[in-house]
Amino acid sequence: MTNVSEIKQKTKQIIKKHKSNKSALIAVLQDIQEAFNYLPKEALKTASNMMKVPMSRVYEAATFYTAFSLKPRGKHIVKVCKGTACHVRGAAILQDRFETTLGIKPGETTKDGTFSLETVNCVGACALGPVVVIDTDYHGQVTINKVDKIIKKINEEGAQQ
Ligand code: FES
Repeated sequence: MTNVSEIKQKTKQIIKKHKSNKSALIAVLQDIQEAFNYLPKEALKTASNMMKVPMSRVYEAATFYTAFSLKPRGKHIVKVCKGTACHVRGAAILQDRFETTLGIKPGETTKDGTFSLETVNCVGACALGPVVVIDTDYHGQVTINKVDKIIKKINEEGAQQ
């Protein structure tokens, strides 16, 4: 787990990279999100101070975009599409399977910090439904069997690192 001084230090480096430019706030938040997988409060405070942007404005940007998270997230983000096309092809059953196998509900992260589970509306790949997006990988025509295989594969890859 990253401590407060590490968060501040890393955030300062990110902001310097963007030359403390106020208009770069979204880009700075993207880099912070990428560095920590969420937006830690200390990082937002550091950004507000260094960039001279009011904290309210920083929070406004941080909460406007769904790609940003104010809560720590897992190393892998599982997004189950709950759009209409995926819904009629069994997205709810897949969501149940992820919930049972990972032991978490949407919006939660496994205790070991490996997975976060989210539900999203259409991800623009309806023809492939039901769709599950894991990090940046799209998985189409997902079945319960595939859910188990995907989780197993990620866990095995993690064990090898
Ligand atoms: S409804 Fe799931 S990709 Fe469109």
